[in-house]
Amino acid sequence: AEQKATNVTWHESRVSASDRAELMGHKSALLWFTGLSGAGKSTVANVVDHLLHQKGFHTYVLDGDNIRMGLNKNLGFSPEDRTENIRRIGEVGKLFADAGLLTMTAFISPYREDRDQVRALFGEGDFIEVYVKASLETCEARDPKGLYKKARAGEIKGFTGIDAPYEEPANAELTLDSDGKDVDTLAAEVVDYLEANGYLK
Ligand code: PPS
Repeated sequence: AEQKATNVTWHESRVSASDRAELMGHKSALLWFTGLSGAGKSTVANVVDHLLHQKGFHTYVLDGDNIRMGLNKNLGFSPEDRTENIRRIGEVGKLFADAGLLTMTAFISPYREDRDQVRALFGEGDFIEVYVKASLETCEARDPKGLYKKARAGEIKGFTGIDAPYEEPANAELTLDSDGKDVDTLAAEVVDYLEANGYLK
């Protein structure tokens, strides 16, 4: 988005990212979960959060409850509003990661360009795109909130996967097979990825 404020300057922190990581005892990163409604983004992210927390890591999940009901409650589901939703979440996710937390976000984030804009805020390795992949058929069968049914009936317009697009990630760091595996297996795959790539030390 356009920078509107003038006469603002960036203040360097005296505490460096590596100072913070040393005190935390581990690295920080933003794990960006993306996928259709009902794919399991939020569920998997919350299981990862719990697993890591139990192991003594400092984590936090940004998802619909704390964002779309708070910071972004003035945004709907038009393409422009979704882009602004993702932009703000990206900036907040960056602040949480800068603070030293292993941060997770769980939003549909249907546009590849919006996700890439967030990625561009981060250095190499600090942004991990996690594609929670489930077929539309699976998501529609799960329909936890009954929204697919409403979308099919024309009661919700512009529903992702029905009459609004979802652009699959081209280069996700991690793709989770949510059609074929259960939540605990998928969450373990995320923890294994973090372990194998040196985030947990
Ligand atoms: S986005 O596209 O990233 O800005 O969407 P997000 O903030 O993740 O919000 C998605 C949840 O909002 C509900 N919902 C809709 N989803 C898609 N399309 C439309 N039109 C829509 N209207 C409401 C839906 O429950 C999504 O929940 P999740 O958690 O993804 O299943």
